[in-house]
Amino acid sequence: MKVTAIIPAAGSGKRINAKKQFMEINGQAVLSITVSVFDGCQSIDDVIVVVAKEDIELTKKLLKDFKKVKSVVAGGSERQDSVYNGLKDVVQDSDDDIVVVHDAARPLVTKEIIAKAVREAKVSKAAIIGVPSKDTIKTVSPENVVLGTLDRGSIWQIQTPQAFRADLIISAHDDAARHGIIALDDTALTERQRISTEIVPGSALAFKITTEDDWAMAEALVKAGVVECY
Ligand code: CTP
Ligand code: MG
Repeated sequence: MKVTAIIPAAGSGKRINAKKQFMEINGQAVLSITVSVFDGCQSIDDVIVVVAKEDIELTKKLLKDFKKVKSVVAGGSERQDSVYNGLKDVVQDSDDDIVVVHDAARPLVTKEIIAKAVREAKVSKAAIIGVPSKDTIKTVSPENVVLGTLDRGSIWQIQTPQAFRADLIISAHDDAARHGIIALDDTALTERQRISTEIVPGSALAFKITTEDDWAMAEALVKAGVVECY
């Protein structure tokens, strides 16, 4: 059974106004930090990195010392397109192979979290990492008027990694492509196929770097040695 990680890193970072995957913390690109955790994780066999076409050569140089990086492929205009391009490069060994999708922009993930997702996907076929919502979530109108309050007990914030049996995630993406469906994450595509998904509790520290605030927090955590990397 083979476990392949796909790391989408082909975004343009509009909300932080920079290609955050190549920005450095402690002299290390965010993408290298993320890939290093996967490279060092015993649950992972191969890593496929997806970047914008113009970044392929620099990414190959950046990641040349990581043994598990099998390919660096071109992404697409949406995250889903980038993951789909990565999936096309997955070489399947057996029916129970696993694919793990993880955002390059989450460098604070740990080997333990990855291992938990993989372990659960081997049993349940689809497993995603999340944390129960600590904040109350309200729906709000475009005019900033509160419409309602969601039941916090059943709200989880979903992160990556998201792990699936390879054949299931590939056919979910194929089907979405055929029907022109664009979703926010990979589980939304397997949900369409009525594939039951297990949620595995992760860590609030494995947040995605999206805005300047996130950058400041990630930088502080890495510099304080709170998180695993290099
Ligand atoms: N991503 C990708 N291909 C895209 C868009 C996003 O591979 N066309 C990747 C990003 O590089 C990132 C992950 O998907 O690692 C999560 O996306 P997000 O945080 O939204 O990053 P960006 O799309 O770069 O940021 P923004 O939405 O602010 O432009
Ligand atoms: Mg985006």
